Amino acid sequence: MDEHFWHERWQKNEIGFHLDQPHHFLTRFFETMNLKEHSRVFVPMCGKSPDLLWIAEQGSPVIGVEISQLAIESFFVENNLNYEVTERDDLVIFSSPTCRLYCGDFFDLNASELADVDGVYDRGALVAQPYDMRCRYASKLADLLMPGCKVLLVSYDYNQQETFGPPFAVPVSEVQALFNAQFRIELLAREDVLWSHQALAARGVRQLDELALLLERRGNRGR
Ligand SMILES: C[S@@+](CC[C@H](N)C(=O)[O-])C[C@H]1O[C@@H](n2cnc3c(N)ncnc32)[C@H](O)[C@@H]1O
Repeated sequence: MDEHFWHERWQKNEIGFHLDQPHHFLTRFFETMNLKEHSRVFVPMCGKSPDLLWIAEQGSPVIGVEISQLAIESFFVENNLNYEVTERDDLVIFSSPTCRLYCGDFFDLNASELADVDGVYDRGALVAQPYDMRCRYASKLADLLMPGCKVLLVSYDYNQQETFGPPFAVPVSEVQALFNAQFRIELLAREDVLWSHQALAARGVRQLDELALLLERRGNRGR
């Protein structure tokens, strides 16, 4: 899934992954991250998700990264938010008082940009990528986050033989293989969601579970 693939999805408005309401696992499990008041939350590959606003409404300033400028501009315009645009190195930054969205490649972020982040919400980032990129993603996320940082991860489990991704199947066993060395991992929930994913059913998927996992970056504070 290269950059071109995602730019085309946004230009053609083929964004079946986009939800109009905050994700039910976010609203149900946000508190399990046990964040301090006003902790910053990082949302990788954020699209124009209503999850961003919901997190900001909980009192947590949001830092997102998204490769599509169209997605970022749509987020601010569709939510009637005033924003300003600044540039730093290769990144263009779109900011409102509560949401700072970097327009660029997740893999180009530096740890300094996320130094004050205590929580991460990943819905649609890990599962958007093929296996080799998922390996790079897990290792980059570990590099970016301070010990103690929590990650609320939403994933899918289905038989990858039945169709191709995205979204890709990333079962608990793979989450463990990718993250276990640097994160503690807890499975919070597993739900059968095929009924609400008719596009995947039409592609031949017969059993589809959505997973919520809580990860915590291992190690002591202070890299
Ligand atoms: C499946 S969508 C999920 C979007 C959002 N998290 C949601 O729940 O609606 C994946 C998003 O990641 C973006 N993306 C893909 N690769 C990226 C990268 N390397 N860096 C930043 N964003 C990326 C795409 O443009 C797309 O908006």
